[in-house]
Amino acid sequence: MVAGRERWSSKTGFLLAAVGSAVGLGNMWRFSYLTAENGGAAFVLLYIVMTLLIGLPVLLAELTLGRGARRSPIEALGVFGGGAWKALGGLFVATGFLILAYYSVIAGWTARYAIEAVLTGFPENPGEYFGSIINGRAAVAWHLVFMAATTLTVMVGVKGGIERLSIVLMPLLFVLVCGLALFAMTLDGASAGYDFYLSVDWSKLFTAKVLNDAASQAFFSLSLGMGAIMTYASYLPEDSHLPNESIIIATADFGVAFIAGLAVFPMIFAFGLSDQVNGSTVGALFITLPAAFNEMGTAGYLVGILFFVALVIGALTSAISLLEVVVSSAMDVLGLSRRTAALSAGGLIAALGIIPALDDGRLDVMDKLAGNAFLVAGGLILAVFVGWVMRNPLDEVSKGATGVRWFGLWRWLLRIPVPLVLAYTLFEFVRGWNAGS
Ligand code: PHE
Repeated sequence: MVAGRERWSSKTGFLLAAVGSAVGLGNMWRFSYLTAENGGAAFVLLYIVMTLLIGLPVLLAELTLGRGARRSPIEALGVFGGGAWKALGGLFVATGFLILAYYSVIAGWTARYAIEAVLTGFPENPGEYFGSIINGRAAVAWHLVFMAATTLTVMVGVKGGIERLSIVLMPLLFVLVCGLALFAMTLDGASAGYDFYLSVDWSKLFTAKVLNDAASQAFFSLSLGMGAIMTYASYLPEDSHLPNESIIIATADFGVAFIAGLAVFPMIFAFGLSDQVNGSTVGALFITLPAAFNEMGTAGYLVGILFFVALVIGALTSAISLLEVVVSSAMDVLGLSRRTAALSAGGLIAALGIIPALDDGRLDVMDKLAGNAFLVAGGLILAVFVGWVMRNPLDEVSKGATGVRWFGLWRWLLRIPVPLVLAYTLFEFVRGWNAGS
């Protein structure tokens, strides 16, 4: 299996694909709504800390396991830990199913907004409009279209499908997001948005909810805790410099989220729409931003289209990585061809997604469960595995990167701080869940 394994055609190709996995709805939709819900800058600060403290070490751990084993997550964990650890790979695949099923529904709303905006502009009354499209047959249809595009890309393969698409789309997304942030600077009243986004209210910093949301967002945004990065790393050559790659991926992912915030918050505050955002739900961006675009006239029309196009691009390159986890596992474990694996996994996930497409309450529950529980649990077990169980993580990570000074720190972080923070996050989540919040 290893001998004939597919490969990225270049280092840049891998990096763009990995950044494509990381940068997605998480950076614009989820990051903005969590920042709004958790009071702005305090959340952003904690999110940065979490990215460095727990995101980066787990990212490097996933890269190490994937490249080392050159197999899909289930098999990779078997290689390094023995049969029982394959169960963790099983959890990853289940998480992939769960996330992609609802992720694709949101991506479907996004694609619909983008296309309808081109044809007819943004709705007069976005709140009402959004309420009317999130559930029901049309939501199912858009979700199925998006899943078809995702499945098709994965079916084509690592080099021709995933890599080629990422090479074209990721630079475009980056330019779009930067352009939007620059445009937002020109708005009168933008400064209230910057204030909310950038000046920290210390009293909001240390609540369990902010901590939990920041930790889980760091994971969600970096595509960690479910083997996506591990799977992509399994197509890397042995001499790749994993520490450098982990830093590049994390920086690009954080950069896009941060710059997207520099676009979103000034736009919302400039038009006095912040009240709507403070009571944020998953839908806030789909309601508040179009309202802002409407206020801006023709410029808003163009900016709005670009914004939703950027979102669709991010969503697609992330969705393919979610599907690739399931597909590569089906290929490795069941011996299926790529085509059969992609069609069956894509089909099953598309079917599962009908549930959240018909009921946004369920979608919300799936997002909380996947983001705050499954990814965090997956990351926790993975950190314990690499920190305590795996015999030679330092030898493995050093291949292609000898003499990096912070390897010792990396292992220590995986041993103590990362499991502690993640266990606490999980504990608080379960407590809140039981209390019905
Ligand atoms: N990181 C992606 C985003 O920010 C979502 C994702 C999560 C992708 C987990 C793969 C695995 O949108």
